Amino acid sequence: PPFCFSCHATKPNMLNVHLVPHTHDDVGWLKTVDQYYYGDRNDIQHAGVQYILDSVVDQLLKNPDRRFIYVETAFFYRWWKQQSSSMQQTVKQLVNEGRLEFVNGGWCMSDEATTHYSAVIDQMTMGLRFLNETFGPCGRPRVAWHIDPFGHAREHASMFAQMGYDGFFFGRLDYQDRARRMVKREQELLWRASNSLTPPMADLFTGILPNGYNPPEGFCWDQSCDDPPIRDDPDLEDYNVDDVVKRFLTIANSQAMVYKTNHIIMTMGSDFQYENANLWYKNLDKLIRYVNGQQANGSKVNVLYSTPSCYLQELHRANLTWALKTDDFFPYADDAHDFWTGYFTSRPALKRYERISNSNLQTCNQLEILGGPVSRKGPFGDGESQTMKKAMAVAQHHDAVSGTEKQHVANDYARRLANGWQHCQVLVSNSLTALSGSSAKRIYCDNLNISVCPLTESSKKFSVNVYNPLARPVAWPVRLPVNGTSYVVSDAEGKSVDCQVCVCVCVCKRCKLHLYAFSKPYMHDIVHLYFLLKTEYLCVHVLQFIRVTFDPDTGLLSSLSNLETKQTIKLTQNFYWYNASDGNNKESNQPSGAYIFRPNSSTPFIISKTAKTESIQTPVVQEVRQWFAPWVSQVVRLYGDSRALELEWTVGPLPIDDDLGKEVITRLDTSIKTSEYFYTDSNGREMLQRKKDFRPTWNLSQSEPIAGNYYPINSRAFIKDDVDQLTVVTDRSQGGGSLQNGSLEIMLHRRLLYDDVRGVGEPLNESSGVFPEGLVVRGCLRLSLDRPPSAADAHRPLAQQVVLQPLLTFTDGDLHPNTQLEFSGLQAALPPAVHLLTLTQWDKDSVLLRLEHQFQSQESKVNSHPVTVNLELSSGCMYLLMPPVF
Ligand SMILES: *[C@@H]1O[C@H](CO)[C@@H](O)[C@H](O)[C@H]1NC(C)=O
Ligand SMILES: *[C@@H]1O[C@H](CO)[C@@H](O)[C@H](O)[C@H]1NC(C)=O
Ligand SMILES: *[C@@H]1O[C@H](CO)[C@@H](O)[C@H](O)[C@H]1NC(C)=O
Ligand SMILES: *[C@@H]1O[C@H](CO)[C@@H](O)[C@H](O)[C@H]1NC(C)=O
Ligand SMILES: *[C@@H]1O[C@H](CO)[C@@H](O)[C@H](O)[C@H]1NC(C)=O
Ligand SMILES: *[C@@H]1O[C@H](CO)[C@@H](O)[C@H](O)[C@H]1NC(C)=O
Ligand SMILES: *[C@@H]1O[C@H](CO)[C@@H](O)[C@H](O)[C@H]1NC(C)=O
Ligand SMILES: *[C@@H]1O[C@H](CO)[C@@H](O)[C@H](O)[C@H]1NC(C)=O
Ligand SMILES: *[C@@H]1O[C@H](CO)[C@@H](O)[C@H](O)[C@H]1NC(C)=O
Ligand SMILES: [Zn+2]
Repeated sequence: PPFCFSCHATKPNMLNVHLVPHTHDDVGWLKTVDQYYYGDRNDIQHAGVQYILDSVVDQLLKNPDRRFIYVETAFFYRWWKQQSSSMQQTVKQLVNEGRLEFVNGGWCMSDEATTHYSAVIDQMTMGLRFLNETFGPCGRPRVAWHIDPFGHAREHASMFAQMGYDGFFFGRLDYQDRARRMVKREQELLWRASNSLTPPMADLFTGILPNGYNPPEGFCWDQSCDDPPIRDDPDLEDYNVDDVVKRFLTIANSQAMVYKTNHIIMTMGSDFQYENANLWYKNLDKLIRYVNGQQANGSKVNVLYSTPSCYLQELHRANLTWALKTDDFFPYADDAHDFWTGYFTSRPALKRYERISNSNLQTCNQLEILGGPVSRKGPFGDGESQTMKKAMAVAQHHDAVSGTEKQHVANDYARRLANGWQHCQVLVSNSLTALSGSSAKRIYCDNLNISVCPLTESSKKFSVNVYNPLARPVAWPVRLPVNGTSYVVSDAEGKSVDCQVCVCVCVCKRCKLHLYAFSKPYMHDIVHLYFLLKTEYLCVHVLQFIRVTFDPDTGLLSSLSNLETKQTIKLTQNFYWYNASDGNNKESNQPSGAYIFRPNSSTPFIISKTAKTESIQTPVVQEVRQWFAPWVSQVVRLYGDSRALELEWTVGPLPIDDDLGKEVITRLDTSIKTSEYFYTDSNGREMLQRKKDFRPTWNLSQSEPIAGNYYPINSRAFIKDDVDQLTVVTDRSQGGGSLQNGSLEIMLHRRLLYDDVRGVGEPLNESSGVFPEGLVVRGCLRLSLDRPPSAADAHRPLAQQVVLQPLLTFTDGDLHPNTQLEFSGLQAALPPAVHLLTLTQWDKDSVLLRLEHQFQSQESKVNSHPVTVNLELSSGCMYLLMPPVF
């Protein structure tokens, strides 16, 4: 609406310089999000967001010409709650008049390499909803603003386009790409961000900012900068107006050479600037006055206060055709030996915790609706999902799940997620009580990944409740540490369930028995499995879909077969480590660190050529346990009726007594003829093709043969030729590459001894109370071998199952006889192409339901077609979903 859009007039026959006052406020990095808000711990970094907003509002009121943009709703929301109603009124006025403009407007500025689209959509929803409800249409950001993330994902651009943004601005891209774009004046482009959506559905104008997000050199007037102020009294010493104007005109004119129109943008601000906004605005007012004063003398430069949307409006009016871009902006390098590809894997345990937290949150959201109001106020107390929603939103920040924050901040993100889950647990318990009629105490075993569950380890009779948040049946193995040798397991109908007890070695070097059982919960089902200790045990032989072989001499995997499709490939898998550069060498002094991956040599060291093995063969589960070193082991696991092979890796503590930083990879070497191509997902959604030493849009000069070929893998990657496709589904975001034909490597864990000089100021060297010798991390890769292109029908659902995992809750002893043992929130499973993305309480009377077509166009013969879903609401609405939509 025009009343909230007040751009200053520009001059058509001049070069118009749009000055955009802004601050970049990280939602946690060197300090926690709350420390940044209050300006606490200024000994770490001087930064206090509350003062920034106080000061900016004050300064905007002093001069109606001034403009400011604000980005991070997590901070704005904290500030807003503390304002008086008259101040809130004043701020609304500034927003309505377009003097204070929100851009981006998500809860945070999400990371693009390590986030999953479902969590990004949620965090954007939280921020945009607050702005809409607080400011109405004038609070709606028109522009996406990702000035700091370290490379840019195509899926992010696609989401922004579909959310209705008019344009997207960012600051970081590969230095070679930038150099070429400057010459060709292609720093402004049209990003066609989906190969499934019909243009222009996922088209987004994209602008690359001239100077990262900083002011031009010599023009930083924040209290944190040392540039000279404008000294404009000719009677005083050091009068410098002529010099400032001259320097400014030089910069403006040279910037205009590398952009297409007679409008250019300058970001006047940087990290946590404007705490004393008077310094900035006083000098900017003068800059505009003196530079424009030269117009009387023939100058053709016109400077104005502006915002990204005002700038964008001028570009739109220019009516040009922009260069088209269809790939993404990964990997990002800011110099020849400085590839920001380490953070794809940094802090692997936090990355996993964030991913499982997303799954738990979606379950919590669904159960809040299915259980009704009693979920929030019920027998177990007051439960809620909001704390966890906020914790997840904060965790999407580009220094959160990315792993590029200080250790104490990483701990804070994890603490927030744990706290959020506590609140959700009450809700889930209340909801399950309502749905099952049993008020038995629910026990949560959050440490099953390290085989810890005090209940199942001590109880002789317990039940497990399995909640499946996907809208279709899954077969999901239930694996529990137990203390008996044989169990009888029965399902909700009292039928016995295949089970197996076997000895397992776990991280903490204690030995435990593990109990495996399959559950096939349907839809939103809650299925109770009874585990009753008995002396005999039942095991049914199950058909095998996969076969793997091992080399008897080395103990390594040697082949993988899909028995249904009658395919076999050669497959060797082993673990290696890259020796991290310490920064002392001729080419560059860049060490490997939290952001940057820089191996000292292109050849990784093999951890062990052979593995000690032990195997377990039962009809329910078969395992080969491999020991490579005291700090690397793996369980190769095949369940009876599974179509994917599990590689459960345990890595750590990485030894550093040799004073070498280590980056550990797992590598799959196969007989697949890949011809230098491999494929990775973008934020868990569409797949992108990657080629070794190649970028689709420029002639790459490769200077880091390993790090320069790493890409983010959020949920899956594959290699293929005409007949075979090997897909690897990950359980968290990781970095990986294909450096030899037929090979795929994935980085699992990193431990580094030097800071990589990108600001975090700490080496990435994680340890914890549980692991004082260095962090031990466990995770799982799931492999499937299929025929392309139908492989998509297997790996897409598999990836969704890993993203949204069944939630297990436990109750001790006998269940109350009236307990309802099964429940489904759906009348029928959704079609395979349709994914239930969101089901959550919106407000008191409404829920938010998002369904998406989850297949890419042409990806699957069967599933890449439009689907109709009958929601059977009272109105009987039908929804037609085209791939992919949400
Ligand atoms: C914005 O808020 C208004 C008023 O609360 C509401 O009616 C409208 O549906 C909201 N818009 C969106 C896109 O949520
Ligand atoms: C315009 O140029 C003349 C001659 O160079 C100079 O004397 C005068 O001060 C200039 N005016 C401004 C506003 O800079
Ligand atoms: C924009 O440019 C096209 C030609 O490229 C022209 O046909 C069209 O009329 C122009 N639109 C405006 C509003 O100038
Ligand atoms: C396991 O069972 C044994 C024998 O019944 C018992 O002594 C031990 O305390 C149990 N362990 C746990 C962790 O409950
Ligand atoms: C590992 O890298 C370090 C630092 O770059 C170097 O000093 C050392 O010689 C390398 N060691 C090996 C075994 O390559
Ligand atoms: C690897 O380490 C050696 C020995 O310190 C050093 O000479 C060489 O420059 C290093 N190479 C890299 C790429 O860091
Ligand atoms: C991979 O295969 C392609 C063509 O099939 C070949 O040109 C290339 O040299 C191979 N690369 C390596 C590293 O062997
Ligand atoms: C890459 O280099 C080749 C040959 O020098 C040239 O023909 C081609 O246009 C270049 N491609 C790009 C995208 O610059
Ligand atoms: C187990 O999962 C928790 C989160 O649920 C995580 O914090 C921890 O690091 C994981 N442990 C290992 C060994 O991966
Ligand atoms: Zn940042």
